[in-house]
Amino acid sequence: MSNTTPVRTVIVGCGMIAAGGYQPRCQAYPNQIELVGFYDQDEARASALAERNGGTVYPSLEAVLNDPNVEAIVNLTLHISHYPVSLAGLKAGKHVYSEKPISIRTDEANELVETAETNGLKLACAPSAILGYVQQNVWKRIRDGEIGDVISALGNFGGPLEHWHPSADAFLMHAGPFRDVAPYPLTAMTTMIGPVKTVHGFARVAVPKRVLTQGPREGTEFEVTEKDHGFAVLEFEVPQADGSQGFIYHSFTVTSQIPPYEIHGTKGGFSIQAHDDGRGIKKFTPQSGWQDEPSPPKAFTGLDWGKGVADFADAIRNDRIPRCNGAQARHVLEVCERVIESSDLGKPVDVSSRFPAPQAVGEVAPWEAD
Ligand SMILES: NC(=O)c1ccc[n+]([C@@H]2O[C@H](COP(=O)([O-])OP(=O)(O)OC[C@H]3O[C@@H](n4cnc5c(N)ncnc54)[C@H](O)[C@@H]3O)[C@@H](O)[C@H]2O)c1
Repeated sequence: MSNTTPVRTVIVGCGMIAAGGYQPRCQAYPNQIELVGFYDQDEARASALAERNGGTVYPSLEAVLNDPNVEAIVNLTLHISHYPVSLAGLKAGKHVYSEKPISIRTDEANELVETAETNGLKLACAPSAILGYVQQNVWKRIRDGEIGDVISALGNFGGPLEHWHPSADAFLMHAGPFRDVAPYPLTAMTTMIGPVKTVHGFARVAVPKRVLTQGPREGTEFEVTEKDHGFAVLEFEVPQADGSQGFIYHSFTVTSQIPPYEIHGTKGGFSIQAHDDGRGIKKFTPQSGWQDEPSPPKAFTGLDWGKGVADFADAIRNDRIPRCNGAQARHVLEVCERVIESSDLGKPVDVSSRFPAPQAVGEVAPWEAD
């Protein structure tokens, strides 16, 4: 990192993933990130993080955005608040890192990307799992030709959410499995293969009435308003004449045993997690079938929530595009939106957004530099 002053950052939205993921993992990168404060509409949650970390507990989003000491916000609110909170941040001159999805609708994502560009600010978005050592290792080997021409990929993630998440109603009423968990395999596919040009989607509301079984609101009944189960076939924009296709399966109704992420080529394939680093690599060759390989030595076991923020901070200091960039997140969101649209229309639909070519991490990651 050429400029070693850490970026003064506030976490907005201090729930499960802030407390268990972002706060501890942002603290792991003190050269890049300084957590200077916290804001949540439930002040007790912000206070709990400040007690562990130090820093200001802000009384409102306006107070965060009016504080000239704050350079960036990390938006860990629930899905429906991603767009308004990120837009307010960008309009106030703050760099923004958001949890996925970048917004609920593509037109909102367009506005976020355009506002960041107009105001000369960095906009980055989870998932950051693509920065993992396993994912980067596999992507490099694909670029080096180890599995030949990439012909297909598949992804799967989900499960009955109300059985473990206290806010499952918010996920099922505002996001659904496509906007919430499809970004994991879609970010890997669009990085390793290219943009999606056409989507054939099949989705439904399979279990419309549910009950929260965890947390302080246990027993609360709710109505599912987003499609909670489905799959899609994707056509990627690639130079090969026969193209390259993908398949994604996402459900908050069934936990499928389809592998989380596979990518296939004319000479072999890889099977990894699209969500976690450090869970090993399976490699397929026609000669040996599927063989296990260990994760690269520096891999983090699990999802390192801080790595995307550390890269974003490095991008701010060095005025470059963040690797988990907002334009790619906008494309991923558009694919999710088109899955639902294609399903409703009963025909394939095209995806119009594109994004700058993703940059590999390289030999020395920004978060490893002094
Ligand atoms: N829980 C997970 O396993 C997980 C994993 C990956 C990503 N995420 C993403 O992280 C985000 C947060 O998820 P979570 O599990 O931490 O949810 P959560 O419900 O535990 O926390 C969300 C927090 O945001 C606060 N909030 C909501 N709207 C706000 C607003 N407008 N202003 C200020 N605070 C606001 C809520 O009070 C709550 O404390 C979601 O977008 C989700 O997709 C969650």
